[in-house]
Amino acid sequence: MSDEPRVTALGYLGFEVSALDAWERFATGVLALNVAARLPGGGFALRMDSHARRFFVEPGTLDDVSVIGWQVEDAGALRRVADRVAAAGFEVVTGTAEEASARSVAELVKYRDPAGIPSELFWGPERAQQPFHSDLLVSGFVAEQRGLGHVVVTSREKEESVKFYEEVLGFRLSDHIVCRYFGFDVNLSFFHANTRHHSVAIGGPQQKRIHHFMLEVASMDDVGLCFDRALRARVPITQTLGRHPNDRMFSFYAQTPSGFQFEFGWGGRDVDDASWQPTTHARISEWGHQPPVAFAPREKQKS
Ligand code: FE2
Repeated sequence: MSDEPRVTALGYLGFEVSALDAWERFATGVLALNVAARLPGGGFALRMDSHARRFFVEPGTLDDVSVIGWQVEDAGALRRVADRVAAAGFEVVTGTAEEASARSVAELVKYRDPAGIPSELFWGPERAQQPFHSDLLVSGFVAEQRGLGHVVVTSREKEESVKFYEEVLGFRLSDHIVCRYFGFDVNLSFFHANTRHHSVAIGGPQQKRIHHFMLEVASMDDVGLCFDRALRARVPITQTLGRHPNDRMFSFYAQTPSGFQFEFGWGGRDVDDASWQPTTHARISEWGHQPPVAFAPREKQKS
């Protein structure tokens, strides 16, 4: 599909959350995102770069991702990619003008991926009138044409999801990680849509639709500063600072108020399709990314 239009970036994420106030404090005070708008249902939209909307946080009981928005180049690309989704046997619904306006995009279509995750394809994101700025950041987010970061989706039938993202949406394979990690079998496949090492990774089934989403900043200090903010806010740290062997990301993981995780990182490598050779890595981290709970003091044995 070398000449076929494909997904070009991770455009936006929606979350349905039970603790809306806690999410606003977390998103602005820990992640350093800005509230871009209040939404009609009581939620809020967030931004991180020149895009007017990058996240939609809305009240509900799901405590999970409610939509993944994938960007394509233009109206023609939207139709061609949507046609491929339909031809692969998935129901595709054209979004109304109101739905597109609510996402601040020109046009969108809706479908569910093989794992049932509500997803949208869109083109023409609205740009914010003011440049993004957060007093909490010394650098800024690595976003714009690389998309908002990456998302790790879970799937009961991993191979079906892999085939869909690769052959239908047009993602290109970056690599795999297959290993044991603290008693768990890890089998992840990573795919890129632009120069960012991966915009999506696909793993096996979990309780939530996503394992984590990742935001990247332009300096190592901003990772450390976010780690400090997470500690001060009593955000549960799920994986300590570490570095992945495949995307080379220096990052830590912690829990969102909805239970799924976020990764906050710096230094992710770029992929050049002209020379990139996909490989399989036998470990998930070069160092670090340890679950602190594994090192908690053991309870004293009762005698
Ligand atoms: Fe990640």
